Amino acid sequence: MEGKVCLVTGANAGIGKETCFVLAEKGAEVVLTARNRQQAEQVRSKIISQTGNPNIHLITADLSSFQDVLKLSEEFRARFDRLDVLINNAGIFLSEYQETNDGFETQWMVNYLAHYVLTRRLLDLLKVSNYARVINVSSNAHLKGRINFEDLNGKTGYRGLQAYAQSKLANVLFTKELSIRQMATGVSSYALHPGVVNTGIGNKNNNSWMSWIWSLGKPFMISPTKGAATTIYLASTANLAGHSGLYFVNSQPHPSSDLSTDSTLASRLWDVSEESVKDYL
Ligand SMILES: NC(=O)c1ccc[n+]([C@@H]2O[C@H](COP(=O)([O-])OP(=O)(O)OC[C@H]3O[C@@H](n4cnc5c(N)ncnc54)[C@H](OP(=O)(O)O)[C@@H]3O)[C@@H](O)[C@H]2O)c1
Repeated sequence: MEGKVCLVTGANAGIGKETCFVLAEKGAEVVLTARNRQQAEQVRSKIISQTGNPNIHLITADLSSFQDVLKLSEEFRARFDRLDVLINNAGIFLSEYQETNDGFETQWMVNYLAHYVLTRRLLDLLKVSNYARVINVSSNAHLKGRINFEDLNGKTGYRGLQAYAQSKLANVLFTKELSIRQMATGVSSYALHPGVVNTGIGNKNNNSWMSWIWSLGKPFMISPTKGAATTIYLASTANLAGHSGLYFVNSQPHPSSDLSTDSTLASRLWDVSEESVKDYL
């Protein structure tokens, strides 16, 4: 990965943090993004001191704000003239309904829409790379997902797991549609399930019941190092372009849900997303 420029969202914790460490060890120039500057600065310093790689950068952005997504893409553009690997990793699980200031259910915006905007705003910098990859960290939770076009926020009768599953299905559909739309430009895209990983995702922002269930499961979960393995595989393995658009589990192409392979649905989601964020593209 020497000389490759990689941008990782959700870089201050969990799978994203581990991904940044390994990319840095492999010699990549890594741009960490996170909403918590203090925590991310600590991670950045630790990566530099432990790997000896000085080319580690930080841009802060809260993905629940489109203004921040814009600032992130503009700051990246001001500092780099090329992007080789974009890793859309940041994610959140919420058991109770929350809405962003931009008017979207928070999981829908952070897990999917913000990454849709970020990717589209950085596409021109990906296109000038001869290695361009977009990696979307989805989840096997997408298997239970449906896209509720009538109510994408899902406010009526909100169920946190259903909203999470919808956002993760959107990650897979976006991957497939991006792959088709960018086929001629050399930009590849991949989605993945990282495993069930011992991170804080089930403890933050959740009611005590969900947090308790997550904590009970922790002894059976894999480590963040193992959880980052498929992302690292997709970022660093040569000659993967023939697999663009696919879903990966354990560093292998893996069947995704029937709905996720519906090309009409993928195209409709792209168009509906474009319309809902058109002021930010
Ligand atoms: N852990 C699992 O078992 C599992 C399974 C399947 C898929 N995944 C997916 O893996 C990805 C990483 O999750 P993880 O398990 O590593 O969880 P994590 O440790 O909680 O990391 C999630 C990252 O996303 C960031 N994030 C959340 N909301 C954000 C916002 N509004 N703006 C910017 N950053 C934000 C978090 O920042 P803060 O620290 O500031 O919250 C954190 O850096 C997610 O997409 C998740 O859906 C995880």
